[in-house]
Amino acid sequence: MARIGMLTSGGDCQALNAAMRGVVKGLGNLGDQLEIYGFLDGYRGLIYGDCRLLTSKDFSGILTRGGTILGTSRQPFKLMREPDENGLDKVEAMKQTYSKLDLDCLVILGGNGTQKTANLLREEGLHIIHLPKTIDNDIYGTDITFGFQSALEIATNTIDCIHTTAASHNRVFVVEIMGHKVGWLPLHAGIAGGADIILIPEIPYDIAKVVEAVNHRTSQGKGFTILAVAEGAISIENAAKSKKEFKEYKRTVQWPSVSYEVADRIAEATGCEVRVTVPGHMQRGGSPCPYDRVLCTQLGAAAALAIEEQDYGCMIAMVNGQTTRVPLGEVAGKLKTIDPNCQLVQEAKQIGICFGD
Ligand code: F6P
Repeated sequence: MARIGMLTSGGDCQALNAAMRGVVKGLGNLGDQLEIYGFLDGYRGLIYGDCRLLTSKDFSGILTRGGTILGTSRQPFKLMREPDENGLDKVEAMKQTYSKLDLDCLVILGGNGTQKTANLLREEGLHIIHLPKTIDNDIYGTDITFGFQSALEIATNTIDCIHTTAASHNRVFVVEIMGHKVGWLPLHAGIAGGADIILIPEIPYDIAKVVEAVNHRTSQGKGFTILAVAEGAISIENAAKSKKEFKEYKRTVQWPSVSYEVADRIAEATGCEVRVTVPGHMQRGGSPCPYDRVLCTQLGAAAALAIEEQDYGCMIAMVNGQTTRVPLGEVAGKLKTIDPNCQLVQEAKQIGICFGD
């Protein structure tokens, strides 16, 4: 009998169900020798022993379903070593749930924070398989994370839709794309959607350069300009501030996010009509795109093989088109950021996209 625990943690994305389905289908040869415990709402379910015994039937027909059938929640890694409001030791509680159910391994689907806790549990002796999920595509050690391509389609579609109205009204549009610490989604959606200016956290912007780019388009008779701005885009001045100073700055300004600040500053300096569009959590919603369905099927099958071979303590990654087992200890806590000098950024600049630097 193989007993597998499964949980989805952190922000959801479109392809979590597809990935879980891949794992369970991949273990199909175990038949009724397989027991699957689904923990509800991420690590919360593991901490408090809140789980359901699932069968392969629960994973049928969910390839195209967004969200997660297990539910999810954010349980910050930095609080894992702190007792809960009733004094419960969360790490001990998770270990107890694992041993009470006599699990052979735990399949954990999630992003960077989730991965750090997965690695902590590995260090505590649990058998862990991690699957890299996030629309941000910022997990170190894998070329791609599932959710990214699905979110990219939505973010790109948003920019496409904005294009027509921006052109009709001769307006400047700021489209805010998810990504607090890294800019993979805004970079790719910006290029795919034909944005004129892309601002990402990895390249602090000079607002004068942004204004210059808008004015340059206007002087060429182009009535509209589109900016793809990451949630975490940051000006050169703010990037020079300490964390505390920057927090204080954000507390005192009137803008709800950087996009509104950029929009106001452009309007002030150019006299153009500027609008802001924030697709927000729509970017994580709906069905997984075909790319993610294929990716999750591959990652799920590869995870199943690792479980069969009892090769634990790893992330199932996609590297150079091949599924690969990457030791969790080598990647947990690292972030995959964009190199400002990478080919993609250089080529985007070559065709005239401004990054505000
Ligand atoms: O999960 C990644 C992400 O979508 C980021 O792109 C975004 O900054 C963040 O989550 C939003 O978090 P929440 O869903 O908690 O508002």
